[in-house]
Amino acid sequence: MNSTTDIAADKIAVLGAGNIGEALIAGLISAGVEPLRITATNRSPERGAELAERYGVVTTDDNNEAAVDADVCFLCVKPAQVLGVIEEIGDTVAKNEVSTALVSMAAGVTISAMESAASSAGTSVARVMPNTPMLVGRGVHIAAFGRYVEEDQHNAIRAMLAATGQVVELDESLIDVATALSGSGPAYYFLLTEALIDAGVALGLPRETASQLATATAAGAGEMLAGEKSAAELRHAVSSPAGTTAAAIRELEESGLRGALYRATDACACRARELGK
Ligand SMILES: NC(=O)c1ccc[n+]([C@@H]2O[C@H](COP(=O)([O-])OP(=O)(O)OC[C@H]3O[C@@H](n4cnc5c(N)ncnc54)[C@H](OP(=O)(O)O)[C@@H]3O)[C@@H](O)[C@H]2O)c1
Repeated sequence: MNSTTDIAADKIAVLGAGNIGEALIAGLISAGVEPLRITATNRSPERGAELAERYGVVTTDDNNEAAVDADVCFLCVKPAQVLGVIEEIGDTVAKNEVSTALVSMAAGVTISAMESAASSAGTSVARVMPNTPMLVGRGVHIAAFGRYVEEDQHNAIRAMLAATGQVVELDESLIDVATALSGSGPAYYFLLTEALIDAGVALGLPRETASQLATATAAGAGEMLAGEKSAAELRHAVSSPAGTTAAAIRELEESGLRGALYRATDACACRARELGK
């Protein structure tokens, strides 16, 4: 995790503080950012009050108020709203004495579309595809930076993102395919765990026990995958010759698990490209 010394920003705006925005706020505060340096926006006052009470951040329903003098504006609204919000705050950002960077956390919205929507030419923009494990500080952020992002902005944005997970910088052309692994990936593991629970029930285990076994196994396997050994090495280590695991793996392979993942990730990347059109 980062410390505030890496997070060089006097004011951070989180526009559209829903699930992703809240996870970002929580991460920034746990990395030591003073809550009053963060301004969060939502249209509903109830949500603003909730965030103010939970984190002590400044809240408002006015995106322009949040964008005034902000070093960074994180755009955490839905993809269809991102360009509208950039247009809405365009004049404010153009008048700011600081160079305000706009960072979209939304699927599909391209850097060039954001640069075009901004009022002043040369606005610094970045595009990030987070994933939901950022809610527990274990996210993966795929990040691509626009041509106008200065080095100090680049470092500050990376440090802010690192407060909720790993940052993987990629060329923008790879974001859609990378989304198919990390952005949508948590759902694949959730589905696998859900199916394993149902399979356990079909074999005769009480649902609660099946759920405990499958979820604790997923958490333990995840922890091991974060270590030095590769996924293949770990799997080989638990597959004794002619053993129980090898029998199960053979069935999974013959049932087309790998092919299903090739097709699923392809469908995901295609959909991400469609959303960006
Ligand atoms: N959740 C995921 O798994 C995931 C993963 C990767 C990326 N993302 C991206 O993250 C973004 C946010 O997703 P989310 O799940 O956090 O959505 P969410 O919970 O619906 O949050 C969006 C927030 O924006 C607020 N909002 C809507 N219009 C606004 C406006 N004009 N000005 C200010 N605030 C506004 C909404 O509150 P009010 O209705 O009160 O305004 C809401 O709290 C999306 O673009 C998504 O593509 C999500």
